[in-house]
Amino acid sequence: MNTTVYDYGMIGLGTMGRNLALNMSDKGNSVMGYDRNETQVKNFITEAGNRTMFASTSLSQFLKALKTPRAIILLVPAGKITDDVINELKPLLSANDLIMDFGNSHFTDTNRRIEQLSSSKIHFMGVGISGGEAGARFGPSIMPGGPQEMYNNIAPMLQSVSAKVNNEPCVTWLGPGSAGHYVKMVHNGTEYGLMQLIAETYHILKTIGQLNNNELHDVFAAWNKGKMQSYLIEITASIFLQQDEFTKNSLVDMILDAAKQKGTGGWTTEDAINLQVPIPVIDTAVNMRNLSAYKNERLLAQQKLQGPKAAAFHSKHELIEMMEQALHFSIITVYAQGMALLQAASKKYEYGLQPAAIAKIWRGGCIIRAALLEDIHTAYTKQPCLLNLMLDDNFSSGLINSQKQIRNAIKIATENGIPAPALMMALAYYDSYRSGWLPANLIQAQRDFFGAHTYERIDREGIFHTQWNTKVK
Ligand code: 6PG
Repeated sequence: MNTTVYDYGMIGLGTMGRNLALNMSDKGNSVMGYDRNETQVKNFITEAGNRTMFASTSLSQFLKALKTPRAIILLVPAGKITDDVINELKPLLSANDLIMDFGNSHFTDTNRRIEQLSSSKIHFMGVGISGGEAGARFGPSIMPGGPQEMYNNIAPMLQSVSAKVNNEPCVTWLGPGSAGHYVKMVHNGTEYGLMQLIAETYHILKTIGQLNNNELHDVFAAWNKGKMQSYLIEITASIFLQQDEFTKNSLVDMILDAAKQKGTGGWTTEDAINLQVPIPVIDTAVNMRNLSAYKNERLLAQQKLQGPKAAAFHSKHELIEMMEQALHFSIITVYAQGMALLQAASKKYEYGLQPAAIAKIWRGGCIIRAALLEDIHTAYTKQPCLLNLMLDDNFSSGLINSQKQIRNAIKIATENGIPAPALMMALAYYDSYRSGWLPANLIQAQRDFFGAHTYERIDREGIFHTQWNTKVK
């Protein structure tokens, strides 16, 4: 009989749970796993070998094997399954036990669960984790929120398993309540924005530049050595080299152009709308995934709705240089939008988020890790209350210098009928944000005209309403 007492419990022994447990074990922690699925449990025990790791399909055996107060990690699908597991666990746990939800849970669910467990004095932490399977195994970026005392207890473990950049762990306590899951949600929204921008750049290079997949590989690989060095650019370069095992074509050309999503990008958009924070590139990325899924309608429309025929650009080299500047410009704006949302949410939900700390833990391990995050970290360290990343001297001069290229890229895309909505939104965000005057005075006039919604004036204090002249000359 196994009488070992384990440091941590892991519920959900799928790819992420199994790999994170192995990572934790490498760093000297013993882990007891639980899953309803017998095969997952067997695989876990087999992979554990002679490590101090074990697993069971029995929840009571699992709970008995844990050190008390217990520290249990959930790595199960977000939503109903997470609730089901918590409901099953709750009557079996004791005061001071800790549940850490490492799933992509909606932050409002995390708030509700904290509330639900507090009457039993069970602690609950919402912890974002990014980096996929390899991250979980060898070093993810970890975004924990919840009671700080609880974080302090588990900090040495989280620091040891997290990714490191310059020997600094990619984890820190982010704030109370659902702060961790909120930051993870915005990480994912930013991920959607970056992916859409890269996809549009690919579309322009492929269609107008007529680059083949080997050339596309070379372009992205070269960009990955420069100021756009990042995980997403790196994997994009690799994707263009992958051969399809069935047809021997490039695999990317055999993949259906209809994007799926699990919802975290949409959640980001939804909450930004609630908080009235503009994040147009992220919104557009969500919309474009939605639009891409209308594959059959698009095929029909292609027959009917004519547009200009894409013509080849005179110089591949010039186009590549233009797109490099355009993509870099737009990437800055998407990080600016994500950071602006985090700052507004921090005020509204009283998270006390530190943008510099977030940029720091996103430098390694996560999907949006990028060399640029080092500069973002520097910008917010210099000015913790920076209103918008685009106002940092370093970023503002970069944007000013590369705006010509994104304007040209959009012009060329439009003339050739190539959709580039996220690139357009990146530029529109920049142009709108830098406009001391916007035509919203007319919107206010219209609102007052049809609905007596009132307006403010530029020359005197107060709220005004006018009996508008309804005559049309
Ligand atoms: C990560 C990712 C991950 C996310 C996938 C898929 O940080 O490791 O963000 O959490 O689930 O990227 O997301 P979609 O299915 O919504 O594209």
